[in-house]
Amino acid sequence: MTPGAQEGGVAVALRPVQPADAPLLLAWRGEESVRRHQPLRDLTLAELRAELAALCPSELWRGQGDRFIWLVLAERRPVGWITLLVVSWEHGLAEVGYALGTEHQGKGWMRPALELLLRDLFALTPLFRIEARCAVGNVASQRLLAGLGFREEGVLRSYFRLRGERVDNRLFALLRTDWARRAMEEGTARRA
Ligand SMILES: CC(C)(COP(=O)(O)OP(=O)(O)OC[C@H]1O[C@@H](n2cnc3c(N)ncnc32)[C@H](O)[C@@H]1OP(=O)(O)O)[C@@H](O)C(=O)NCCC(=O)NCCS
Repeated sequence: MTPGAQEGGVAVALRPVQPADAPLLLAWRGEESVRRHQPLRDLTLAELRAELAALCPSELWRGQGDRFIWLVLAERRPVGWITLLVVSWEHGLAEVGYALGTEHQGKGWMRPALELLLRDLFALTPLFRIEARCAVGNVASQRLLAGLGFREEGVLRSYFRLRGERVDNRLFALLRTDWARRAMEEGTARRA
């Protein structure tokens, strides 16, 4: 498990998903608020369980593999998940996706969870550029990314289809250098 972050007195931690988490993930994936701004494939429990069983979390730290999923724990309870897709190890490119179950949204839990992951990605892997995309209407997700230091790089027109409509997305990215600068600025502000 990635060590927890203390955020407003609330411990948030990450652990790699396991096949036994499939029913929980399937339930969240079916929730209206989770699907509102992102197209999620309809999977059966058996398909999802098989996908989770095929993951190999330790590969990430060896600079291998292309798909990783963590469960987000808040106060030791599962509240959501984060996905990382490595697009190119050669170029250090990856993309994050994330969601919280409906009852766990609006409590500020995703920010410390992503901070934990980003901290480890930049400290322990050669990844250089982490991208995230979200539907233009997904204000909470855009605020979350901006708060973490992701920079908006533009609008991807008609990027995906959601309930029969083509939807524009915003592309965000966080570079290893952005993260280091932010850590330095926060350190300076703390010492001042
Ligand atoms: C997006 C999501 C992960 C955000 O996580 P969260 O921990 O619940 O985030 P919060 O609701 O605490 O809000 C994050 C920020 O957005 C702001 N925000 C939330 N809803 C908002 C709204 N409707 N309008 C404006 N700002 C909003 C919050 O004030 C906060 O801003 P701040 O950091 O500047 O204070 C969560 O809402 C979620 O799982 N949504 C469903 C799945 C999803 O959309 N995933 C992302 C796909 S790209």
